[in-house]
Amino acid sequence: MHAMVIQHLPGKLMDGEILRRAIERIDELGRISDMPGELRRTFLSKANLAAGACVMKWMGGLGMEVAHDAGGTVRGILPGNGHTSRAIIIGSHLDTVIDAGKYDGALGIICALAALELLRKEGCKLDYPVHLLGFSDEEGVRFQSAYLGSAGVAGLLGPDLLAVRDEAGKTLAEVLLTEGWKAGAEVFSYDEFSSSGYLELHIEQGRVLEEAGEAIAIVSGIRGQARLRVTVEGLADHAGTTPMNLRRDALTGAAECVLMAEGLARESSALVATAGTFKVRPGASNVIPQLAEFTLDVRHMEDGFLNDSLERMRRNFTAICERRGLRLGWNPVQINHAVNCDERMIAELLDCAESVTGKRRLLGSGAGHDGVMMSKVMPVGMIFVRCRAGLSHHPDEHVEADDIGKGIEVMAEFLKRRNA
Ligand code: GLV
Ligand code: MN
Ligand code: MN
Repeated sequence: MHAMVIQHLPGKLMDGEILRRAIERIDELGRISDMPGELRRTFLSKANLAAGACVMKWMGGLGMEVAHDAGGTVRGILPGNGHTSRAIIIGSHLDTVIDAGKYDGALGIICALAALELLRKEGCKLDYPVHLLGFSDEEGVRFQSAYLGSAGVAGLLGPDLLAVRDEAGKTLAEVLLTEGWKAGAEVFSYDEFSSSGYLELHIEQGRVLEEAGEAIAIVSGIRGQARLRVTVEGLADHAGTTPMNLRRDALTGAAECVLMAEGLARESSALVATAGTFKVRPGASNVIPQLAEFTLDVRHMEDGFLNDSLERMRRNFTAICERRGLRLGWNPVQINHAVNCDERMIAELLDCAESVTGKRRLLGSGAGHDGVMMSKVMPVGMIFVRCRAGLSHHPDEHVEADDIGKGIEVMAEFLKRRNA
């Protein structure tokens, strides 16, 4: 992990205190992990709950009214001066991928705390309440199903999602009843009548800003995403005696499917496909694999193109398996359509970005964000902050202090301009 160097402090954060505290907090959350030697926090894990407790403490320190829900999502409410009751919701996620960087998710929560602190320091009292949410799951590592925290608060945890299973075979419904904080849990529930918009600051996780030499972008929309579990079943047999032409090897069949998906994505503009996990059973060097199971993550900005590509993959996988005497299991876990950010929020955020950085850059998001779920119940806007080499989902993920400062200022400016 890299030490943070504050080279120069941007305008409003001139005394550096708020920015320094934000950076210390990013480091502190970055040390809360379920796995020694790497950063890992998954849905309802010990470290994820500990990170939530830490964020609640910081929210409380700002005078927020603090609570958590049964799914490990935490919330702080800062009341407005009473002129309007419709809240602005700000959020990002507490969970991480495996061997993660410390900015993905955490940055958005901590910058929101810093932006509120900055407004307080400037003596700016907001007309409306702010609800800051730290979602317990955006990455979907435990259940392969993303956005469980924001799906919960948006009222979207339906029967399909509640039935998804983790590695241990437990359903989401079961773990919501048996794990996490039960005592004092509240139900968070949002709609467009109680809330005027959802705002999230996040690292870009791409290279556009770095290549342009710019710190901030405003997000136009979030790419659609399909997550599937694919199984290929063959026949276990002796590795020493079974002739090559008589094998029904599940792993080589699955490998051909993965390469086929890669080829399709390579030849189609802006389609991406990833097999991020692979399991083989029974898993011995002298046994031909009986079963191979992999996850498939496929994304595109256009829903029609994504659906067509999935259908092509399914047809080609079927043909590969038939030719090899294998059985294909094609199991969609979650399909999220592409989401557009709200036009009004985009326009306001671009103005704020310009006032802080002199630039107005609009950018689509290839990564998924909690705004996908929040967009079902309210307008959504996002601020992207440049990250080094676009690297993310990697421990070397890094954001310069100056850029964090600019992100805080853009968010504070947006909140201020929303005052009636
Ligand atoms: C989350 O980072 C995702 O895009 O999967
Ligand atoms: Mn994220
Ligand atoms: Mn992520």
